[in-house]
Amino acid sequence: MKIMVVGGGGREHTIVCKLKESKNVDEIYVLPGNGGIAADAVCVNIGAKDLDKICDFAVEKGIDFAVIAPDDPLVLGAVDRLNAVGVPCFGPNAAAAIIEGSKVFSKNLMKKYGIPTAAYETFTSSDEAIAYLKNSPYPIVIKADGLALGKGVTIAEDFAQAEAAVRSAMEDKVFGESGNALVIEEFMTGPEVSVLCFTDGNVVKPMVSSMDHKRIGDGDMGPNTGGMGTIAPNPFYTEDVAERCMKEIFLPTMHAMNAEGRVFRGCLYFGLMLTPNGPKVVEYNCRFGDPETQVVLPLLESDLLEVMQATAAGTLADTEVKFSDKAAACIVMASGGYPTSYKSGFEITLPETLAENERIFIAGAKAEDGKLYTSGGRVLGAVAVEQTLPEALKKAYALAERIHFENAVYRKDIGARALAKEK
Ligand code: AMP
Ligand code: GLY
Repeated sequence: MKIMVVGGGGREHTIVCKLKESKNVDEIYVLPGNGGIAADAVCVNIGAKDLDKICDFAVEKGIDFAVIAPDDPLVLGAVDRLNAVGVPCFGPNAAAAIIEGSKVFSKNLMKKYGIPTAAYETFTSSDEAIAYLKNSPYPIVIKADGLALGKGVTIAEDFAQAEAAVRSAMEDKVFGESGNALVIEEFMTGPEVSVLCFTDGNVVKPMVSSMDHKRIGDGDMGPNTGGMGTIAPNPFYTEDVAERCMKEIFLPTMHAMNAEGRVFRGCLYFGLMLTPNGPKVVEYNCRFGDPETQVVLPLLESDLLEVMQATAAGTLADTEVKFSDKAAACIVMASGGYPTSYKSGFEITLPETLAENERIFIAGAKAEDGKLYTSGGRVLGAVAVEQTLPEALKKAYALAERIHFENAVYRKDIGARALAKEK
């Protein structure tokens, strides 16, 4: 089969590598891909949001199945458009992708169907938001309604910070239209867990749990990033917690979306916080997480294409989704200065050979004359799979030390909280 993957980061590189193991995959095209993905698939210079060109390409090439990985094209309706020209897709249609595309929508959905999440109010006027913030307890959390590259969330310690966040989103429009409405919500505490689930509207099949590390600095200091490293499984996500989440969160969310006439077929990502009052939803994503995918998919033992096709066709109940009981760790190597400003164009040197349990997923690099050069904030993920989490972390860090580019930075404490919990 001819497969098309839309997207071009470390998550897409991971999806491509896993799809290559699927028995029915013959050719993979990635739009736009990146310099690292080009070693594993054919990259085509079409942007992930250019729906017209994506559809034309799929028809011309006779694509049999498409995987839409990033949030933007999903929210814009890439799946609707491709289905209309006869291309089956993995990913939700626009009506269902709104679960990530609008936080006002997702918060109202959770309230209506009794799904546990932080208490909140929504606002479409900065004056009203600021008046509300004058009498609020702190810290408090302010979220832009729409997509904001993971940067639309502010945890304000006091009124001054909260007011500044509201003004920059609603008046200065730093997130564009995404800041026209805001959610202001209660600050929650507890360990965070990411659970990516395959769902076709009939059943929910969770993948192995994981933990992201969103801050740039060790000890969870500094600004939020797209994600600086991940581990799987997440030791805070015990069997008891998993059972509760299925009953109180995953199935109720699937049923809620069905009841709203927005059947979700694809990967539904639950960002959870295990609060003293039980598991609660921090956020939904309508797609695979990045860099969660880099540790989750290497542990998948089932055929990824088969699972994706079953998800799209609504036959997931009959399809096995099996994960190994090993552990995986991903260390993200970024350009010095990320997430603010950084320089690109440095040559990347990779180890000549990798062991079977080692992977390098490229996120931001371009290829020129057979060499790789940095081209983004997050450059790559160094991943290792081992029997236990401590071993996986040790191997992933050893792998990162064998990778070089100027001004490379990475966190030295990925998995530290998880290891402390395991002890
Ligand atoms: P989000 O983009 O919604 O996942 O938010 C980014 C990060 O902000 C989350 O991973 C949490 O660490 C933090 N966060 C978001 N909402 C809350 C909340 N209500 N209470 C505490 N932390 C939060
Ligand atoms: N790692 C969080 C996300 O993909 O949004």
